[in-house]
Amino acid sequence: MIPVNSVLQVGHFPEIMQAEIDCRLTPTRYLDLSAPIPAGNFEAILIRSNTKLLESLIKQIPSIRLVATCGVGFDNLPLSYLKENGIKASNTPGVLNDAVCELAIGMMLSLMRRIPESQEYVKSTAWSQVPFQLTSTLAGKCVGIAGMGRIGQDLARRLEPFKVKLAYSGPHPKAVPYTYYKDIVDLAAASDVLFLACPATSDTDNLIDAKVLDALGSHGYLINIARGSVVDEEALLYALQHKKIAGAALDVFNHEPNPNSAFFKLDNVLLTPHIGSATLETRIAMTNLAVDNLEAFFAQQPLPSEVHY
Ligand code: DGY
Repeated sequence: MIPVNSVLQVGHFPEIMQAEIDCRLTPTRYLDLSAPIPAGNFEAILIRSNTKLLESLIKQIPSIRLVATCGVGFDNLPLSYLKENGIKASNTPGVLNDAVCELAIGMMLSLMRRIPESQEYVKSTAWSQVPFQLTSTLAGKCVGIAGMGRIGQDLARRLEPFKVKLAYSGPHPKAVPYTYYKDIVDLAAASDVLFLACPATSDTDNLIDAKVLDALGSHGYLINIARGSVVDEEALLYALQHKKIAGAALDVFNHEPNPNSAFFKLDNVLLTPHIGSATLETRIAMTNLAVDNLEAFFAQQPLPSEVHY
């Protein structure tokens, strides 16, 4: 049982998620973050991964002992401050793998086969003049995955039936049957398609720079389902504008929801509005896992998905 007035909900949740929360607890809602923090005996914060939790905010509520973020990524949290102050954090891993991997594969196929453009081709009746351009087959290619964590491994397993070779990079080799490259440049050089499925940390900040894009080469495709910060966007724009790579499918950007508009002018991109986990089933499961963590915390039980930072 979660005591009344003990959970502060920081920021808006979409209606369907809010309804799910409200079935299980009654958080105090703090929606306008420029307004003063509501009064309460708050021990926990509930937040979404697209809302940044400022250190200046949490400092004003020294009674907080847990931050439950609804999302697998926790780059929205002030981790050093939480660590220094013994504040726990939880996230929602696992329950969004299906949705994220399904989108990732859809983005890859749409980009390589130019599915959105081909629909426009039919609708504009251009088809009656000249057949649509030829595109690229995936089978036989090498698919690289930067980040062989939960999502990376799930993605790799789903890609196996596509008759591709699989390779990956990350800080350490994992017990998976795919070729490991320590260096992302080597992975890019070996890959025809490079997925980004790594967390946003100081180690992965601008991981994909001009050198990596050059290594990926003019026949290579980049798919980003991780975070915008993993890519040096200026370098990517240059590579796309000058056809240094074949194309990019981006679900995440440095500036959301207003990405750099230079991307909109390109014909070798597929852009989606950070919808990796945006299915009804997934958002409900994420919300429930975030609330499970809150309940476990107040019941003094181990958290189902504690972030060990
Ligand atoms: C996550 O869970 O971190 C996703 O990016 C949210 O959609």
